[in-house]
Amino acid sequence: MGSKAIQGNAYCAIIPFFLGATAAHELITYENATSGTIGQSVLLPISYRLARQFASYTIQWETGNWTILYYRVTNSTTDPQGCPTWENGKATIFHKYKGRVQFFGLNGSLILWDLQLNDTGSYRVVLTSTGNITEKQIRVTITETPISSDAQKMPNLETIIIRTILCFCVVFVLVFLIIRCECQPASQMDRCTTCPTQGWTHTIVSFVQTSSPREEIDRE
Ligand SMILES: *[C@@H]1O[C@H](CO)[C@@H](O)[C@H](O)[C@H]1NC(C)=O
Ligand SMILES: *[C@@H]1O[C@H](CO)[C@@H](O)[C@H](O)[C@H]1NC(C)=O
Ligand SMILES: *[C@@H]1O[C@H](CO)[C@@H](O)[C@H](O)[C@H]1NC(C)=O
Ligand SMILES: *[C@@H]1O[C@H](CO)[C@@H](O)[C@H](O)[C@H]1NC(C)=O
Ligand SMILES: *[C@@H]1O[C@H](CO)[C@@H](O)[C@H](O)[C@H]1NC(C)=O
Ligand SMILES: *[C@@H]1O[C@H](CO)[C@@H](O)[C@H](O)[C@H]1NC(C)=O
Repeated sequence: MGSKAIQGNAYCAIIPFFLGATAAHELITYENATSGTIGQSVLLPISYRLARQFASYTIQWETGNWTILYYRVTNSTTDPQGCPTWENGKATIFHKYKGRVQFFGLNGSLILWDLQLNDTGSYRVVLTSTGNITEKQIRVTITETPISSDAQKMPNLETIIIRTILCFCVVFVLVFLIIRCECQPASQMDRCTTCPTQGWTHTIVSFVQTSSPREEIDRE
């Protein structure tokens, strides 16, 4: 392991002279600011590109005066765009953040778990390679309750109530009609001969009866 590491360093120190050190690596952040809720997690999404194959580099995440994580890569390969496809790296998570972070070496993104209010702050990611240092920041705000879902919950509840009431209305009307259809015909027939004012009910009932499927009539 030891000799391999020394070999790796020597290899990487010489290579820039031959391949040219003009192209610099690149660090990309996908958002400037993000937010999380107490007890939940937050993703700090980044990715990076390397200037060349077989590079050695380090990625460091920090906040305030604290180092969260230090990732040291001794060898790596990239695709033609410079995105890492393989790497031989070792991550060191600092005591304060042990068991609370998840790190993705190939894109450098970090997830912070079990958030506390005091996790609010600016998070810095630093990519160092062959003497070039690139730094980006993401602002993280931790709140006690989710910011957006509170606003979403109220309309959701209202629409649920309105839909429930509408459903009940429809069901009520249907049940009312069915009861009328099933209970009235026999007595209605008798009554209608003597009571012509109720003729309209009879008309509706007989209409519903004739237009209802045959099986239902058979069952009756
Ligand atoms: C890095 O990995 C490549 C591919 O596995 C290998 O050819 C090369 O020797 C390695 N370089 C070092 C310095 O270990
Ligand atoms: C660092 O990057 C700059 C371009 O931003 C480049 O000109 C310089 O050569 C790089 N230095 C090294 C040591 O790679
Ligand atoms: C980040 O902030 C800077 C200035 O504060 C702005 O120019 C840039 O567009 C922002 N980037 C994103 C991805 O929001
Ligand atoms: C980084 O890699 C992880 C694991 O492959 C993936 O879940 C995540 O979406 C990636 N993030 C970005 C910003 O590419
Ligand atoms: C961080 O360090 C600076 C000085 O380097 C100090 O003024 C500041 O109070 C420190 N912040 C915290 C949160 O310890
Ligand atoms: C945040 O507060 C908790 C106690 O509530 C403490 O254990 C933790 O170290 C603090 N984190 C930071 C980054 O100061």
